[in-house]
Amino acid sequence: MEKILNFITKEVEGAFTECGYDKSYAKVTLSNRPDLCEYQCNGALAAAKAYKKAPFLIAEEVASKLAGHAAFSDVSVVKPGFLNLKLEVCYLADYLNRMQEDNERFGCEKAAQPKRILIDYGGPNVAKPLHIGHLRSAIIGESIKRIGRFMGHEMIGDVHLGDWGLQMGLIITELAKRKPELVYFEEGYAGEYPDEAPFTISELEEIYPTASAKSKEDASYKEEAMQTTYALQHGRRGYQALLSHILNVSVTDLKRNYKNLNVSFDLWKGESDAQPYIPDMVEKMKEDGYAYVSEGALVVDVKEETDTKEVPPCMILKSDGASLYNTTDLATIVWRMKDYHPDQMIYVVDKRQELYFTQVFRCARKTGLVGEDTQLTFYGFGTMNGKDGKPFKTREGGVMRLEHLLSEIDEEMYRKIMENASLTDEKEARETAKVVALSAIKYGDLSNQASKDYIFDLERFTSFEGNTGPYILYTIVRIKSILAKYAAMGGEAEQAKILPAKSDSEKDLMLALARFSSAMETAFLETAPHRLCAYIYGLANALNHFYHETKILTEEDACVRAGYIRLLMLTRDILETCIDVLGFSAPERM
Ligand code: ARG
Repeated sequence: MEKILNFITKEVEGAFTECGYDKSYAKVTLSNRPDLCEYQCNGALAAAKAYKKAPFLIAEEVASKLAGHAAFSDVSVVKPGFLNLKLEVCYLADYLNRMQEDNERFGCEKAAQPKRILIDYGGPNVAKPLHIGHLRSAIIGESIKRIGRFMGHEMIGDVHLGDWGLQMGLIITELAKRKPELVYFEEGYAGEYPDEAPFTISELEEIYPTASAKSKEDASYKEEAMQTTYALQHGRRGYQALLSHILNVSVTDLKRNYKNLNVSFDLWKGESDAQPYIPDMVEKMKEDGYAYVSEGALVVDVKEETDTKEVPPCMILKSDGASLYNTTDLATIVWRMKDYHPDQMIYVVDKRQELYFTQVFRCARKTGLVGEDTQLTFYGFGTMNGKDGKPFKTREGGVMRLEHLLSEIDEEMYRKIMENASLTDEKEARETAKVVALSAIKYGDLSNQASKDYIFDLERFTSFEGNTGPYILYTIVRIKSILAKYAAMGGEAEQAKILPAKSDSEKDLMLALARFSSAMETAFLETAPHRLCAYIYGLANALNHFYHETKILTEEDACVRAGYIRLLMLTRDILETCIDVLGFSAPERM
């Protein structure tokens, strides 16, 4: 089903052609003066130049053709030549009824040419706890993935684990000190290694920071860890067996954490999966003459003439022959192209890595790892700051762990729900608090343009009023409660139709609903979940305004009442569809 804007544009095109003007001038847009009209067409201004005629005259001619047209209740011409349009309520109701019939898509067409898009987000580091920086990547990436999927694209989410660094060597080194008797450390051991990991996740999470701190104070400890990393990366069996234990324990824990965030990945690949592709890739870069040795390191030049800032060469191998973060990202591109050949790869990463990705992307293009038919996109996000404007910290000033942040918000939400005394059952209140808390944190994040820093304000994010997740959920719950009351009264609206609006607030709600497919499409085309947030905020406001001005359940005319109920059902469905692609959901009550 086409967007309402397209339908309206077609009507206006007809009028332009009838008057002898080219239909390309008939483009209709949403009004930027909602106090004057609902839609507008500025085409007469452009046509005036081409036809050497006053724009006002052209607009008047077109307006006279549109007068009395079934789509419009008002067509007026404003100097110097704007066409202001208001929709006929029957036309609008008819459009909404067709939206409602269009199961689960509500009039939003899938992309005519679906793309395959691989999205790299999450990016947690194995054995290190998830922190706030990873939160943003997970929230934003998940939403971009879901928006793309809704639009009919094949979206492949890859978590891209950080599982290939010194941190692995550090953990193994520390483990060797604590439990030297473990069979993994026995040199020349040829037997099988145990299935069970010799540590739990909490031990693992304690081992890493301890080892990391020691390595900063003690140079010989660090040296040892580097040697262990080297041995691990060069195939020492015992260490590799430990690595797979670390991975298993860590990934199990990560999956649990992501599940709580309503985030899931199609691929659980990591940096280590790219390693086998490195030797051939490096060899080829050398052979083709792109990679050369500079100050001992192997590099590829990636600067371009038009650069205004310096873009240093992309380092492929360090002087000791070791690979780096860059090498891994390039080799990851190799397997992604080989296995998936995506039309686009989107990287949802902290914007401080932008220059780094510029180097990697240029290097990948220059050396032919990706061709013209694959788009590489860096989608950088800003920092989540505390109220002091500095990166968010715990009260004690340490790095805030994701789990702790989430439970803090859960607690706050629980307190608010109990305060409202809306739920009496303790268990239900706890569960509801979790659902609402997730909306608070996700909406608080997604409603900002991703590239900007934002301030995490617990009080504001968890408020039931204003531009917040809980406000959106509150609106959905309000609708659900009216629908439940209607059903309890014996109401039956399944066969009913949405009727032409009888008030301004009702019409505003209907106009907002009619914009759904445009909002979703824009959010995808601009990779902008915040556009979808702005849309549902407007929709929720329109619903609440309508609710306050209208007697819904006490409306005497059963037909009108059923029409209202259908309108509420469509509003609920559209709000729920939108929050689902944003990555959260609404409770039944709150
Ligand atoms: N693990 C990295 C970090 O914590 C993020 C990975 C981003 N993705 C990538 N392909 N480099 O900063």
